[in-house]
Amino acid sequence: MNILITGGAGFIGSHVVRLFVTKYPHYRIVNLDALTYAGNLENLSDVEHAPNYIFERGNILDAPFLQGLFEKYQFDGVIHLAAESHVDRSIANPMAFVETNVMGTVQLLNAARNAWKDNMKGKRYYHVSTDEVYGSLGEEGYFTEETRYDPRSPYSASKAASDHFVRAYWHTYQLPVVLSNCSNNYGPNHFPEKLIPLVINNIREGKPLPIYGDGKYTRDWLWVKDHASAIDVIFHNGRKGETYNIGGNNEWKNIDLVQQLCDIVDELLGRPQGSARQLITFVADRPGHDRRYAIDASKLRDELGWEPSIRFEEGFRQTVQWYLEHEEWLRHVITGAYQAYYAEQYRSEK
Ligand code: NAD
Ligand code: TYD
Repeated sequence: MNILITGGAGFIGSHVVRLFVTKYPHYRIVNLDALTYAGNLENLSDVEHAPNYIFERGNILDAPFLQGLFEKYQFDGVIHLAAESHVDRSIANPMAFVETNVMGTVQLLNAARNAWKDNMKGKRYYHVSTDEVYGSLGEEGYFTEETRYDPRSPYSASKAASDHFVRAYWHTYQLPVVLSNCSNNYGPNHFPEKLIPLVINNIREGKPLPIYGDGKYTRDWLWVKDHASAIDVIFHNGRKGETYNIGGNNEWKNIDLVQQLCDIVDELLGRPQGSARQLITFVADRPGHDRRYAIDASKLRDELGWEPSIRFEEGFRQTVQWYLEHEEWLRHVITGAYQAYYAEQYRSEK
C-alpha cells in the first residue's frame, strides 16, 4: 500500500507516521507537510531514514502539487491530519483556518477523487477531526456520532466545514471516506503553546501558569499514541462513509489537571511539594470558551474493539518525564531553531 499522511510533522501526525512506518514495513508512507510553525521534523528524527518513509514538503492548498504527488506515488490511502489546530490562534486569525482546514481539505478531496475516479476499489480516504465540532456540553452528557454539529470557535467551525465536505464527497462521488472525531490529546511532541506542555515548561522556568477564567472548563484527555492506534484500526477496519468518536473517558477540569501537573513536576525535579502550585495565575478568559467536552466512544469499542491502552496517571507521568528529558527539543521549538532542521537535514536532497 502507498499511503499519504498529511500533517505528519505535527503533534499527532508524527505519532501516526511513526506507528505506520514501524508497524507496516511493507507500506510506503509519504508524509506531506508544509512545515508551518507547528511542523517539526525533529519529531520524526528516529524514523526519517526508514526505507519505507518519504517526506514531501508542500501545501495542501497547492492543487497542481497534489496532483503531481498522486501521479508520482499512486496512493491507495490518504490519512489527512494537516490543519491549523490552535483555538487561540483561530480567534486571532480566522482566515488561516478557512484556508488550510476548509479549502485545503477540499483541494485534497479533489486530488483523491481525480486520481481514483475510474477505480475506487481498495481505496480509503481518512479525515481526522475533533470533538470540538459538537460544541459545548453542560455538566451532564456525552458527544455521540449523532450529536448535532454546533461549532463555536473559528477553529471548530473550520473543522466542521471540512467534515461536511468529506461526507458530501462520499454521498455525491462515492469517495470511500471514513472520519473520526477525537477529544484533546496529550503526550510527547505537543507544541508548547498548548496547555500541558506550556504548563510543564513554565513550571520549570518559574513562570506564571495562566488559567483561563475560573479554571473549571473540562476536557477529555487521550494519550496521543492511543489516538494513533485508533486511527490505525479505523483506517483498516472502519466502515466506508462512517464516523467514529475517539475519547479517553478521562475528564479533567483545567485547574485540577494543572494542580496534578504541578505536583508531578515538583516531585520529578526534587522541589518542595506545593512550590509549583504557587505559580498558578487566573487570567482573562478565552472568548467563546467551550465549557465541557466529553466523548462517548462506545461505537468504536463495540464495532472495532478499540479502547485506550494506558491509564491516565501513567500516561501523564510519562508525558511530564518526556518534556523534562527533552529539554533540547523544547528549546529548539521555543527559540525557533527547529525550523533550521529541515534545511540542515535535507540539504543534499533539495
Ligand atoms: P499540529 O498543529 O501539531 O500539526 C499540524 C501539522 O499540519 C503541522 O505539521 C503543520 O506544518 C501541518 N500543516 C498546517 N497547514 C498545512 C498546509 N496548508 N499544508 C500542509 N501541511 C500543513 O496539529 P495536531 O494537534 O497534531 O492535530 C492534527 C489533526 O488532528 C488536526 O486535523 C486536528 O484538527 C486534529 N485533532 C487534534 C486534536 C488535539 O488535541 N491536538 C484533537 C482532535 C483532533
Ligand atoms: P488547549 O490546549 O488550547 O486545547 P482546546 O482549547 O482545543 O481544548 O486548551 C485546553 C484547555 O486549557 C482549554 O479549556 C483552554 C485552557 N487553557 C488555559 O486555561 N490556559 C492556557 O494558557 C491555555 C493554552 C489553555
